[in-house]
Amino acid sequence: MRITTHELRAMKRRGEPIPMVTAYDATAALLVDRAGIPAILVGDSLGQVMLGYDSTIPVTIDDMVRATAAVVRGTERALIVGDMPFMTYQVDTPTALMNAGRLLQEGGAQAVKVEGGRPVAPVVKALTAAGVAVMGHLGFTPQSLHQLGGYRVQGRGDAAGAALVEDALALQEAGVFAVVLELVPTEVAGTVTQRLEVPTIGIGAGPHCDGQIQVLHDALGLLPDFRPRHARRYAELAQIIQDALARYASDVREKRFPTEAESVPAGTGRRRGGPDG
Ligand code: KIV
Repeated sequence: MRITTHELRAMKRRGEPIPMVTAYDATAALLVDRAGIPAILVGDSLGQVMLGYDSTIPVTIDDMVRATAAVVRGTERALIVGDMPFMTYQVDTPTALMNAGRLLQEGGAQAVKVEGGRPVAPVVKALTAAGVAVMGHLGFTPQSLHQLGGYRVQGRGDAAGAALVEDALALQEAGVFAVVLELVPTEVAGTVTQRLEVPTIGIGAGPHCDGQIQVLHDALGLLPDFRPRHARRYAELAQIIQDALARYASDVREKRFPTEAESVPAGTGRRRGGPDG
């Protein structure tokens, strides 16, 4: 059985921190699931970390449906949240309902995530009324990158901080089960966390959130030239992978790979993954 949105809310009530990461494919998602992480966001950060775009803006609903379905296939326990990409929920409510429906029906997600505060509250209300579990996303909202003028902390100053709290309350009123707070001052994130009954999940929002989310590639050190301040590297996989591939290439060039043991003699019928290896 998968973790449910209700269980995340129960974790908040128990004061139990909620770890989350992103994933975009079945293999990585399986490792996340086996690590016991209760919830995975199939983020539209897929645009940068998997597809090589310089923002999330070009990501399409087809990209997200395919990635979400792969993550669902790779996991058994984790709650899977599929991100709704730019302009798939802002145009009108029927379009938002249809696209959320695709993430649930074709992707197999249990929930969707939308960016924005009071202006998206009516859409959140319509989605939740239709039976869709929705996660909110406040603070720095990457789909508004150009309007916000770059990757900047949001909610600084009394007025902006108060506006962010109002946005969070409006999302809760509209029915979200959790809210991501991205690049928000620690104190503002603390206030939002205290005021909300639903969990806050922080990224660059300090230690007072109910949970934390990291982009998988940041946490594993898979992007050698990108080190955001709010990320902690728990491994240096880029270097490990590069070294492993250099050794493989050298073995091929020097004819050390494959050996006889790694080859298939005629007539044995050995198959990859079969009983013989
Ligand atoms: O797309 C994403 O990965 C996200 C997280 C940064 C929260 O929205």
